[in-house]
Amino acid sequence: MIKLTKASKTGLHGEITVPGDKSISHRALMFGAIADGKTVIDNFLMSDDVMHTMGVFRALGVEINHTESQATVIGKGLTNFKAPSAGLDMGNSGTSTRLLMGLLSKQPFDLKIFGDSSLSKRPLRRVADPLSLMHAQFELTNEEFLPAVIKANNELTGIIYHMPVASAQVKSAILLAGMQADGETTVIEKLPSRDHTERMLRQFGGEIKTEGGVITVKKQPQLNGQHVLVPSDISSAAFFMVAGLITPNSDITIKKVGVNPTRDGVIKLLERMGAKILQNAIPSDGEPLADITIKAQTLKGIEITAADIPSAVDELPILALAATQAVGDTIISGAEELRVKETDRIATVISELTKLGANIEEKPDGMVIHGGTSLHAENGSALLDSHGDHRIGMMNVVASLITEGDVVLTGEEAMSVSYPGFMEDISSIIERDSL
Ligand code: S3P
Repeated sequence: MIKLTKASKTGLHGEITVPGDKSISHRALMFGAIADGKTVIDNFLMSDDVMHTMGVFRALGVEINHTESQATVIGKGLTNFKAPSAGLDMGNSGTSTRLLMGLLSKQPFDLKIFGDSSLSKRPLRRVADPLSLMHAQFELTNEEFLPAVIKANNELTGIIYHMPVASAQVKSAILLAGMQADGETTVIEKLPSRDHTERMLRQFGGEIKTEGGVITVKKQPQLNGQHVLVPSDISSAAFFMVAGLITPNSDITIKKVGVNPTRDGVIKLLERMGAKILQNAIPSDGEPLADITIKAQTLKGIEITAADIPSAVDELPILALAATQAVGDTIISGAEELRVKETDRIATVISELTKLGANIEEKPDGMVIHGGTSLHAENGSALLDSHGDHRIGMMNVVASLITEGDVVLTGEEAMSVSYPGFMEDISSIIERDSL
């Protein structure tokens, strides 16, 4: 349990560098493990979720070393993993589970996989179904959940798959299996989801075609180890963007943020809300990067619909907080995916922000946020809960910056799923202005 702090009247100031991107760190480990030779990953995110992916590859016999922000992987290729002596622990990580179900669907031994109580409630048929069409085999608890077994298998066949949900995890699982399958594998997306898997396959020397939502991959020749520079995570930066916008008198810069166009929905949506966000592009050979400068300013309510969701899916909780401070209503629809994240994020956003006086209506596929509420702890004190969800924990911390009264947070340890040093980084921009 931790006591949270309201920002002072002079606001938040300073420069901040948020940790490496979670999605890209997972993928860099995966490609490093299946490539030939050494992969060095800089600005690597050392968070709980990513450590679970690392643990899986170590259990499969891959040598991985790391310092505070660099990981080195000695690749083994796809066919030289050793059978692990115990089940593979996915922790809280949906990305590890779903991507590895694809990547490890053609191994000569059974692989038992399990996770924590939240992960064990998250749907897996969305990956097991297309992978089964490719002849992968799984045993899922109640046909849907962890614990599960990825069955020994020596055959994968390409498919053409029309994605029923916009999901980079599902797309990536299919592509990672498609890289090992006979024939071509094509995934067709209605709305673009994050394309880190496609980019990284190319970087490791593989071939993949992408054209207007149609992505095709074939069996890959040997991939080669690379140097990967992981951008700072836009999903982590989003908490600082909103903190800077809603905390009066703030002026902060977030350095070297990954602004891949399949991930930068939070910036586009905040701009639609009227925010002026300065992006200073930084030259890069890989994923696009920019320094982002934000000042406190007035926002207006907007409509957020299904087409906006994939590129901002993890940022909707913090956008909901921004919307409580906007002039007018913000209507979020087409966002039913939020119900199957680390928590049901429609329910948990509403449960926490309403404790601070926010006025939010729940919808099956989103919410209506009535803006212009000044946040305050009822009767002077509020007990907020992360519900074991890192992004709900961090949303609560940012809300407390503008909340009158005492605010306490429980379940704060969940934040280390994606951002172990979040509290220190937030206090660095609060404390700086009081010097
Ligand atoms: C991720 C994709 C998203 C996102 C998750 C990470 C990834 O999930 O919510 O945090 O790394 O591919 P979906 O693709 O299932 O929406």
